[in-house]
Amino acid sequence: MVLTGDLVDEHTNSIEPLNSLLECLPEAPRFFVPGNHDKIAPVTRELYASLSKYGVTILDNKKVSLSKKGKRVSIVGLDDPYLGTPDPELLTGHGASEGELSILLCHAPTFGSQAVAQFKDTWDSCSKEVATSQKPRFTSGSVLELASRHDFDLVLAGHTHGGQIKIPGLGAVFVPGQGFPPRYVEGVYRSGSTAMFITRGLGTSRLPVRLFSRPEVAIIRWFTP
Ligand SMILES: [Fe+2]
Repeated sequence: MVLTGDLVDEHTNSIEPLNSLLECLPEAPRFFVPGNHDKIAPVTRELYASLSKYGVTILDNKKVSLSKKGKRVSIVGLDDPYLGTPDPELLTGHGASEGELSILLCHAPTFGSQAVAQFKDTWDSCSKEVATSQKPRFTSGSVLELASRHDFDLVLAGHTHGGQIKIPGLGAVFVPGQGFPPRYVEGVYRSGSTAMFITRGLGTSRLPVRLFSRPEVAIIRWFTP
């Protein structure tokens, strides 16, 4: 079970509603990556204490491995790519092992300019590769393409609220950190053998309104050929 961040924001005064939600979670390994709003909320310390209390592992630049009934899963969680400091060393040499599902957790599907600069070597090497091979374009700041270059199977992200407010016939017009039209909004995207799923999540940002972007808790089933 993964929580892809922004569980609280700068307007959150009490952690109790979140505690009620965490109490209802079914028994399963639980993981969390921080989002940009978690970083600046007045209850950040209480948030981290609650996550620990309810058995949620905080993956802010950490990786874990799980094994059950002979099946292995590795999970790398990056710090928030806008207000945190995601660590490129976590991805270097990661590589998916045979028979193992490798997951990259990242709050947002794109990186802010500071994080892009931090991962500069990776972006540069990817850009050169694209220039010489004429492969599909590489978008600086795309977590999907970064994960694809490092052979992850799956990226799980949030942050977008599915655009939060959609205009019929036009779709999402604004996603924080992306231009117009936003490229990564919700659902499944693919690059090579890597898939990325962006959940619409449950909440709102700035305006307490969602329009044609229903809240969701996603259940993902992973099948191997
Ligand atoms: Fe966010």
